[in-house]
Amino acid sequence: MLTYESEKRIFTIHTKNTSYQMMADSRGVLLHLYYGRRISGAADYLLRLYDRGFSGNPYDAKEDRSYSLDVLPQEFPCLGTGDHRRPACILELENGASSCDLRYDSHEIRKGKYALPQLPAVYAGEEEAETLSITLKDAWGSGIEVTLLYGVIPEIDIITRSVQVTNRGSSGAALTRLLSANLDFLTGSFDVITFFGKHGMERVFQREAVSHGVKMIGSGRGMSSHQYNPLMILAEREATEESGCCYAMEFVYSGGFLAEAEQDPFEQTRMQMGLASERFHWPLAPGESFTAPEVILSCSTSGLAKLSQNLHSCLKQHVIRGKWRDEIRPFLLNSWEGCYFDFNGERILELAKGASELGLDMIVMDDGWFGSRRDDNAGLGDWTVNEEKLGCTLPELVAGIRDLGLAFGIWVEPEMVNEDSDFYRAHPDYALKVPGRNPVMARNQLVLDFSREEVVDAVYTQLAALLKSCPITYVKWDYNRCIEDVYSMGAADQGTVLHKYILGLYSLLERINREFPELLIEGCSGGGGRFDAGMLYYTPQIWCSDNTDAVDRLRIQHGTSFGYPVSAVGAHISVCPNHQCGRVTPLRTRGIVAMAGTYGLELDPGTLTEEEKEEIRRQLAVRRRFAALIEDGSYLRLSDPVRDPIAAWLMVSEDRSEALLSTVNLETHFNDAQRYVRLQGLDPGALYAVKDVFEESAAVLCPAAALMGSGFPIAREMGEYGAHMFYLKRQ
Ligand code: DGJ
Repeated sequence: MLTYESEKRIFTIHTKNTSYQMMADSRGVLLHLYYGRRISGAADYLLRLYDRGFSGNPYDAKEDRSYSLDVLPQEFPCLGTGDHRRPACILELENGASSCDLRYDSHEIRKGKYALPQLPAVYAGEEEAETLSITLKDAWGSGIEVTLLYGVIPEIDIITRSVQVTNRGSSGAALTRLLSANLDFLTGSFDVITFFGKHGMERVFQREAVSHGVKMIGSGRGMSSHQYNPLMILAEREATEESGCCYAMEFVYSGGFLAEAEQDPFEQTRMQMGLASERFHWPLAPGESFTAPEVILSCSTSGLAKLSQNLHSCLKQHVIRGKWRDEIRPFLLNSWEGCYFDFNGERILELAKGASELGLDMIVMDDGWFGSRRDDNAGLGDWTVNEEKLGCTLPELVAGIRDLGLAFGIWVEPEMVNEDSDFYRAHPDYALKVPGRNPVMARNQLVLDFSREEVVDAVYTQLAALLKSCPITYVKWDYNRCIEDVYSMGAADQGTVLHKYILGLYSLLERINREFPELLIEGCSGGGGRFDAGMLYYTPQIWCSDNTDAVDRLRIQHGTSFGYPVSAVGAHISVCPNHQCGRVTPLRTRGIVAMAGTYGLELDPGTLTEEEKEEIRRQLAVRRRFAALIEDGSYLRLSDPVRDPIAAWLMVSEDRSEALLSTVNLETHFNDAQRYVRLQGLDPGALYAVKDVFEESAAVLCPAAALMGSGFPIAREMGEYGAHMFYLKRQ
């Protein structure tokens, strides 16, 4: 619910459990007042003004030295107004000065959720959401107008933010920094939680105190990246999974980003998120407008688990779209780790036979089927089937696969090109390169210039022909390098290229989704290098990591779970010793870990023993049986897989009548202590029958309060990495 109190010009956004409040003060400056547990009434009493040395005052406040934007909590701080904390906006005027003194002009409250031109954004029905837009104008006649957009989905405690900057003046200007959300806290001691990583180890949880200075994460790679995920959480120092106040910002964007947490000299905290400023320069000629990508904001007053659940609900119901949003996705076998580049049509059919005997739904032919692709040095850009390699046409191969009762999926990497490809030979200028210089190479490939419409069109033509050539129902959309050479032949200002690239990517994905509404696209970027809410708008699931080792995956999936739902997490079983790190883990463990994601296989079934095949059939039956609970239930982290001896997580149905507990033993010792896993989220007064889903043993009746207080005992066993999955049914 959105309210406006006209006397004090106070805006309040109420969600089910939280309130967010702002005030256009007597000078028209939009101050942030409060975000936290739901309130009624005004929180302007929190503001206390003092004269603070070396904190300047706006000209119109010069008699009042206590009024300074250097310390006041603001909604959208700009450089040049006396605020020396990190700005949300730097606007360069035609004369070279950086200044923008924004004052309240007008506002609008309406039903429904705003959409953003050319950009992915949270969507919701007219009755589910509301929009508040507040327009601010530069006080000095530049004609710069800034509209702050707030979308509210009260039921799931979600507020979204975006910003539109318009030049209604007669001289030019340029944006050199534009963040989408700024959150100022007058009080509170916080920890900042971020998710760092690298190829093969993405989204590792890191929690540290916010202290004086700026904690900054981001990506200047033209992609959201393996290194930092565009998700930042501020949590009260004492906040845990189950208690305390915490705040998340999650970027609905797949390119470079910036997220910062800053403590100022007066122990106030500022949190921000938006576009990367590095190599960003966006000219705004008179009449032009720029829209910043959206940030999803949420506050939980009952700990981190609830915060994640708010984000999960938002992504599952209000970001992911299309046919696959509400459907159980196909359980598939991907050819990559089974044969890498070494396959032909026959081998793919063999894999398909194996997959069908195991009860899977689909086979995916990964990299190596097109152009002159023999290894990862050639062929990208030529999306035509290499019939010589396959030994048949694609329609013939797909017909054979469908005869086995399987659907067919294919790998593509549409944004890339190898110099050794017909596409590059025909259009060398279509790649991003700085004129007169050698480009930086990565995996021996170049990035196509998606900031140019004609390049996107040419790729679309090839992809559409491929998808129309036979029944392809799934595409794995890969992206295997980052952007280094930021120069487009089509750009008047090279500072626009990286953002226009992402707009080009989104336009292509939108077109493919519209033209092929039945198609399921799985995002991928060397695993999870572009695991973000922007991609999820077009690709309902994303390959989580190239690291398929079950133990490493525990860390990766643990971090991922803070911002992303299970249904979005591409996770497969591979063989042992694991190809990435050589570790040996039981097949049961690999299966249980992959079940906290989409569950599929990344191996050659021909190498499996009969016993292993039987185990996979059992796992698949379990994954299918509990699909709704796994994907729609509330996800609860029960341990920290880096520090604790047992990794454990729980999915609980909305009515708490059933739950699924998964555990993996991470330590094995002689004469070890009995370990217990403390559960959460159950109906505290109820009794639950707890049963191992893979064993014949009888169910054990356990009081929920004891399960959540003392815990559930996990059997001591010989050997490493034993895993269990227990089904809990309320009696
Ligand atoms: C990187 C992906 O993450 C892998 O799964 C595989 O598809 C390779 N690319 C193929 O080149």
